[in-house]
Parts: sequence; C-alpha cells; structure tokens
Amino acid sequence: MGEDIFFQRRSVRSFILDKDIPSEDIEYILKAAMHAPSANNTQSWEFIVIKDRSKIDEMSKTHQYTKPLSSAPLAILVCADMKPNGKDINKFWEQNASAAIENILLAATYRGIGSLWMGIAPIEEYMTKMKNMFALPEHVNPVAIIALGYAKTNFDMSKRENRFEQEKVHYEKY
Ligand SMILES: Cc1cc2nc3c(=O)[nH]c(=O)nc-3n(C[C@H](O)[C@H](O)[C@H](O)COP(=O)(O)O)c2cc1C
Repeated sequence: MGEDIFFQRRSVRSFILDKDIPSEDIEYILKAAMHAPSANNTQSWEFIVIKDRSKIDEMSKTHQYTKPLSSAPLAILVCADMKPNGKDINKFWEQNASAAIENILLAATYRGIGSLWMGIAPIEEYMTKMKNMFALPEHVNPVAIIALGYAKTNFDMSKRENRFEQEKVHYEKY
C-alpha cells in the first residue's frame, strides 16, 4: 500500500487540547475544501470556523458520537447553501458538501493535522440543534462537524488494515 495521504488518513478522536493549528494551515485546509468538485460548479458550501471553547464544548453534546470534540482545539461546521444561485433548489447539497469535507480531511492529513468527520445531516434533530446554535439562515443546512487538531497518539501505520475488497468491484455488470 502506498504512503499517500489517502491511506494515512484515519479518524482522530483524542486531540492535544492546547495545541492550536496555525492560521496558515487553517487557510490551506479551507482552500482545499473550496477546490472540491460540485454539481454545476455551484460551490454551494459554507464553513463556520470555531475556536471558542464554550461553543466547541456545546457542539460536543450534539449527539453521542460528537464527544471527541471536547479535546479538539478547532471545529468546522460545514454547511450547504440550499439556494446557491438564489432560486434553484440545490438537490446535490449533501454530495457537494461531502466532497469539500473529504478535501478538508485529506488537506489536514497532508499538514500533519488529525481530523474527524461527525455527521449532522440528514438527522433533523441534529440539524435543528446546529441551525439554532449558529442562527443559520433558512436556506443554509448544517451537514457535518469536522474536528481538527493534533492527535494525542499517532495512529500506528503498521497496524493499518487493507480495506481493498476485490468482491466489491464489478466489471461491466453487477
Ligand atoms: C458521514 C459520516 C459520519 C460520521 N460520523 C461520525 C461521528 O459522529 N462520530 C465519530 O466518531 N465518527 C464519525 N465518522 C467517522 C467514521 O466512524 C470513520 O470514518 C470510520 O469508522 C472509518 O475509520 P477511519 O476514518 O479511521 O478510516 C463519520 C464518518 C462519515 C463519513
């Protein structure tokens, strides 16, 4: 298996709380996010960058699996503009945002920063929580929370499993 970032990236759930991410790295990660592909090139994403401890702690209570935020120095709430050109409904909102999210994770890996993708959409309860907390406008949907920071313990790359499964690949027909 190659040493490319695709294979190095793993979910990090325990961060060094007081080790901040340099602003150049945050900017790089956001640039990478906005370089993602999107249906009709709508670039229908919005990002809320959160460093405020009390806000991140509040976000960690969104659901059972957002607890890792409690040690993260930074969170990004990735949102989708449902009407990116002011009128048409953006049917591909989750796919567009997800492409941006994967770029965030890979850009972070490239810069030696750990990350975690925590799902918000399409669960109404979680979406409402984030909508209220950040007073999102009607046409903006929260999609996911990304935790970013330096991993407390680095993943042992020698323990990586091979996830390639030949039987999941179909040629010409299922
Ligand atoms: C849509 C989506 C939602 C996820 N939500 C959570 C979450 O809420 N909490 C969490 O700890 N991990 C979450 N994850 C991370 C997955 O659990 C993780 O990617 C998976 O177990 C594979 O591990 P790896 O990222 O280390 O390769 C989510 C991943 C995706 C793609």
